[in-house]
This record gives sequence, C-alpha cells and structure tokens, in this order.
Amino acid sequence: MRDIIGQEASKIFLIKQKSREIFQSFNYVEIKLPSVEEVSLFLRTIGESTDIVEKQMYIFKDKGERTVALRPEGTAGVVRSCIQNNLFATYPVTKLFYSGSMFRYERPQEGRYREFYQIGCEYFGNGSAVSDAEIIILADKILGECGVKSRKININSIGCRECRPTYSQKIKEYSVRIKDTLCEDCQRRIDKNPLRVLDCRTDKKKLEDFPAAYEHLCRNCENHFYELKSILNEQKIDFAVEPKIVRGLDYYTGTVFEIKSDVLGAQDTIAAGGRYDCLVEEMGGKATPACGFAIGVERLILASENIPIKNSKKFFVAIQSDDFKNKALSLALKLRENRFVTEGPIPARSLKSQLNSANKMAFDFSIIFAEEEFKKNEVILKNMADGSQKTVKIENVVDEILSIPGERL
Ligand code: HAM
Repeated sequence: MRDIIGQEASKIFLIKQKSREIFQSFNYVEIKLPSVEEVSLFLRTIGESTDIVEKQMYIFKDKGERTVALRPEGTAGVVRSCIQNNLFATYPVTKLFYSGSMFRYERPQEGRYREFYQIGCEYFGNGSAVSDAEIIILADKILGECGVKSRKININSIGCRECRPTYSQKIKEYSVRIKDTLCEDCQRRIDKNPLRVLDCRTDKKKLEDFPAAYEHLCRNCENHFYELKSILNEQKIDFAVEPKIVRGLDYYTGTVFEIKSDVLGAQDTIAAGGRYDCLVEEMGGKATPACGFAIGVERLILASENIPIKNSKKFFVAIQSDDFKNKALSLALKLRENRFVTEGPIPARSLKSQLNSANKMAFDFSIIFAEEEFKKNEVILKNMADGSQKTVKIENVVDEILSIPGERL
C-alpha cells in the first residue's frame, strides 16, 4: 500500500470533484459505504472461484469474532445497502455513485496496488439497453473530462441465466481439449467455473481460439446486445465488440464492458463494468435489473494528459527581525483571505535562511519586512525568479499583488 503525497493527492481530489458533478448531472445520488463488510457478502456476490475471492481479499476476525473483509470493490456493498435501507422504494429511479479505497492483495506494479481508489456507480431498476448505454457513455465522459484522450471502449455480452450455461459448457469442452496447456488455476476452474478460464492472467494467447459468447446468446440477450450497439452507434460513441471479455466478477449477466488506454502498460483497463440483473434477487431483494461500473483513479491519473490542478502564485513572507512577526502575520492572513498560497512568517531564522527556503520551495515572490523599509511603513516585494525587487507601502501590498497576472486558488 502506498502513501499518496502532494500533486497525486490533489489530482485524486479533483477527479472526485469533477466526476461528482458529472454523476449528479445524470441524476446519481452519492452513497458512502463502510470499508469493512462481513466476508460472506463478497463470497456470495463476487463468486467463490474468482481471483478476488480466492487470492486477494484482506480477511480478519474483529473483536466480536466476526469474520470481516476490507472491501475489494463497491458493488456488493451498494446492493447490500439498497436492500437494507429500502433505497429502491425511496428512489424510484435508484442511481447511486461512490468513491473510496478498495483493497486487493495483488502483486503490486505500476497501475496495480493493494489499496487503490475507485469512483463508481450503480443504476437499478432499468433493464433496457438504454441504461447500459448510459453507463458506458457516463464512464467515457468522466474519463474524457479528466483528460484521458486516448481510450478505447470494448463491449461484450456474456449471456443470461438462460443462455450462459450453454456457453459455459462450450468453454468447458474447449478447455478440456487444451487442458495440458492451461495454468494450474485454470485447470482447477474448468469444472468449478469454466468462464473464469477466460480471464486468466497467465497466458492470454492460448485463449484466442475460444468460442465467442455472442455466438451462443439467447434471443433476448441477442436483441439487447443489438440494441446497445445501435444506441452507441446512434450517439456516435466509438466502441469495439471484444468477444473474450468476461470480467473477473461472477455477478455479471449480459453486457460487460471495459475502457482501456493504450498509453498504459500491462494494467491498461481504466474503467470496467456491466449488467448484473440477478444479484439483487440473489441477495434477498426483489428481482431488480442493474448495471454499473468503476473507474480506477490511479490508472486514470497515469493515462490523463491534463488534470487541471489550480496553481496560485506563491508568496513567502520573510522577516529581518522577530519584532515584525505580528505585522507580517497580519499581511500573510490577508493574502490567504484572497486565496494566495502564502508561507510565513517563520521567526528565529536569519533572513538569508528564510529566503533560501523560499527559493528551494519555488515561491514566486518574497515579501520582506526589513528594518529600513519598515520605518517608512514599507516592505520589499522580491520576484524570486529574476531577483528584481521594489518597495511597496504595507497597506497597498494586497492590491499590488492582485494586479500581478496569475491564478489564485
Ligand atoms: P473491476 O474490474 O474489478 O470492477 O475494477 C474496476 C477498475 O478498478 C479496474 O478497471 C481498474 O481500473 C481498477 N482496479 C482494479 N484493481 C486494481 C488494483 N489492484 N490497483 C489499481 N486499480 C485497480 C469492479 O470493481 C466492479 N465493482 C465494477 C462494477 C460496478 N461493475 C458493476 N458495477
């Protein structure tokens, strides 16, 4: 798990802010979920033979002897909360968004961490392909507005309760034929959950000749998938049908999708999601169609060309004598009131050492309370980039600074 410091932390904040606006414009309501849930929630929803459940969960006993887990994803918690809090009745169109840390014990590398940040949403109660299209367009819009220029949408349909068993059987038969070439995990999964063979991370090449899901869809799933493609075409959204996407979670039915960026390395999927029409009922709620997605924020940051962090001009208030500390503090507070990044005063240090710090931390200007100038009620305004300086009456400093071109927070 990593420490996130400075600019990266600011970027996460900005992405959250921007995505919140976009979610709200699509009428999504924010939900904040606990980071810890009973482990059984994830076993039941994500699926027992998935990588997440088999290998990646942080599971522990709490002091009440309950077996709990750090959440590896958000969907299971949202569904639990909707049922427990009767949200389907409160919000007849139930659309929720969330953000926060997720935890998976994976081998860390660029774009893959053990604690990572997701923003995501879930849309309940609309079984039409319009809602699949809406979430794909929404995910794509968030990525676009957060500066991810190069991105590719891949979609697939993995079928419903009716047609999935036939497809699973096909995958099973094919897997048995090439069993010797499959990794140990996949060999084990052939019987337990053959579809999982398709999201094997060890050797994707071997999977290329597997049968495609869309060749085995029932009439309903075929129509739904056809309609989704027509809506995306109509809305001029670029996408490709990628027949081997199954995603690493068992709850999906029908549409699945991912958005990738080719500027990323191995971990190139920035957003992923799909439809899960059986999950609410399986968890004890009323049968409710649903779909959603999550975006990996660290990957978004790696792929983004422009996350507009606000930069302010930076001012360092320096003092030649500690006697000026109160006047200097009053001025610093006024500058902060105007949302300029301001440091100082820092008493008990020589003026030279204060100015060295200002230089090292790339402050744009120093405002120096110096003995001679102070007698005339003036300070020195020093441009740290070119060394030029002038004197300014203390009462005029804020106006003088406001007239310098540049941003404020
Ligand atoms: P997921 O595909 O497991 O889906 O994760 C979604 C995104 O989270 C990935 O595309 C990736 O960007 C990011 N991600 C996953 N694992 C890591 C990691 N170890 N380090 C960094 N980023 C990571 C879900 O979580 C589903 N709950 C999405 C969903 C919502 N489906 C329906 N509704």
